[in-house]
Amino acid sequence: MRLATQSSIRLIFAAGSTVFVVACGERGQSTAKSDTAASAAFSVSPQPLGPIPADDSLARPKSLRQVGLPIALTTSVTPKDNPQTPEKIALGEKLFFEGRLSADGTVACASCHQPKLAFTDGRTVSVGIRSRVGQRNSPTVLNALYNTMQFWDGRAVTLEQQAGLPIVNPVEMGQPNLDSAIARIAAIPEYRATFIRVFARPPSATDMLRAIASYERSQLSFDSPFDHFMAGDSSAISASARRGWVLFNTRGRCNLCHALTDTASRPTTFTDDTFHNIGIGILRHSVVPLARQAEQSIAKGDTIAIDQAAILTPMSALGRFLVTRGDSDIASFKTPDIRNVMVTAPYFHDGSAATLWDVIDHYNKGDGLQDPWLDVDIQPLALQEKDIDDLVGLMASLTSPSYRQLGEKELARQRQLSRTSRPQRDSARAFGPKPVQPKPPSS
Ligand code: HEC
Ligand code: HEC
Repeated sequence: MRLATQSSIRLIFAAGSTVFVVACGERGQSTAKSDTAASAAFSVSPQPLGPIPADDSLARPKSLRQVGLPIALTTSVTPKDNPQTPEKIALGEKLFFEGRLSADGTVACASCHQPKLAFTDGRTVSVGIRSRVGQRNSPTVLNALYNTMQFWDGRAVTLEQQAGLPIVNPVEMGQPNLDSAIARIAAIPEYRATFIRVFARPPSATDMLRAIASYERSQLSFDSPFDHFMAGDSSAISASARRGWVLFNTRGRCNLCHALTDTASRPTTFTDDTFHNIGIGILRHSVVPLARQAEQSIAKGDTIAIDQAAILTPMSALGRFLVTRGDSDIASFKTPDIRNVMVTAPYFHDGSAATLWDVIDHYNKGDGLQDPWLDVDIQPLALQEKDIDDLVGLMASLTSPSYRQLGEKELARQRQLSRTSRPQRDSARAFGPKPVQPKPPSS
């Protein structure tokens, strides 16, 4: 696996007038040494990371018996070489809450994927070790087993590959390499014994990632009012949410991306498993110079380097381009599943939308006027206020029972906020013609 060998990369980026040089990698060892010198280059959050959350009832493996849960799909996404067993899942759960996987013992997976916030962190962008700030919003781990690719840009394919990257990312868990993380675990007799019981061999990085991935595959989240509605109980969701479901598949055009096919009427994961530029954040970045910088500073296919660019640098805004180098992928991001989205604010890859009203306002105006790579399916929608409320109502019906109370509180909070603050609203554009899209610059 690629992750076992560290590549070396020097990322040079400008912040304001200062040019920072971040040296990372070189078989891991130089990372630790250069860490203090480089630390000046990381922005630090004024709101430090709290203690690692408790491994409570919300974190337990979920039942397969949930209304709406796709049994055949669930079986088919479990890799043959990493079958689910209760012991392995339990080990993975322990590791998910394990601070020792981070360089200074303070950060676990659960720090940024908190069970009480539906496995997100409630921040615009995540904060990791030594309060260092990343560039991206933390997605939920619930139902991540169904993702055909992991991360906003799909730079990892499997959950096993994914889990190795935050451990060695300098702003997330900050380990110089996976060996040093597993050494901490292997030194604890109880862990040693558990690994031997589960895998019939002493702890290794590969088995550690397998256990974590198995735990993540136990985080299934269905049984929402919407699932009961789809199963035939027409009163399971409100009239507003029912109107929202119609809009979702018609004038709202949401189904063009948040469904497996444009005509599928029964979404299970609300994603087309692909990437689109929907105009998020692109105007704040000069993507063309960033793209040329990425081509020069990152070796194609170097996953560790791509991970660092995505989490540490302004090149993050390039999205899928970092992985494929295709200009048409500039600022493209993965269509996320929108189950439980009511309780995972803020939204989008950069956390730039505070409420679901802001999300719909964004789509309604067909944002991205100056964006030559904007997806063809984005256009002004001419949605009225009531339509917007109905779409939010639909999304609120996608909350699973464990988060019902939080969902109700969040809906009330966001509704209140939306009455006074609608930074994305632009009715003139929402009801205007589709703007002429500029052609991509020739390079
Ligand atoms: C410092 C915060 C932080 C820590 C610690 C962290 N993550 Fe994440 N996680 C994120 C962010 C931010 C992203 C999105 C990054 C991106 O897409 O570029 C992410 C993405 C993911 C995804 C992809 C989900 C999707 O829908 O694509 C999974 C799965 C995941 N993390 C699991 C883990 C596991 C397992 C660990 C521990 C080994 C972990 N994370 C540690 C912040 C964190
Ligand atoms: C052209 C494809 C496309 C269409 C059409 C589309 N989406 Fe999205 N959606 C995406 C992509 C891609 C993202 C992630 C973009 C990013 O973060 O840069 C996203 C993000 C979101 C998010 C944020 C989720 C999160 O966890 O942060 C919500 C909510 C959402 N979409 C709802 C909708 C609704 C409702 C509609 C219809 C009004 C819609 N989408 C139409 C592709 C689309």
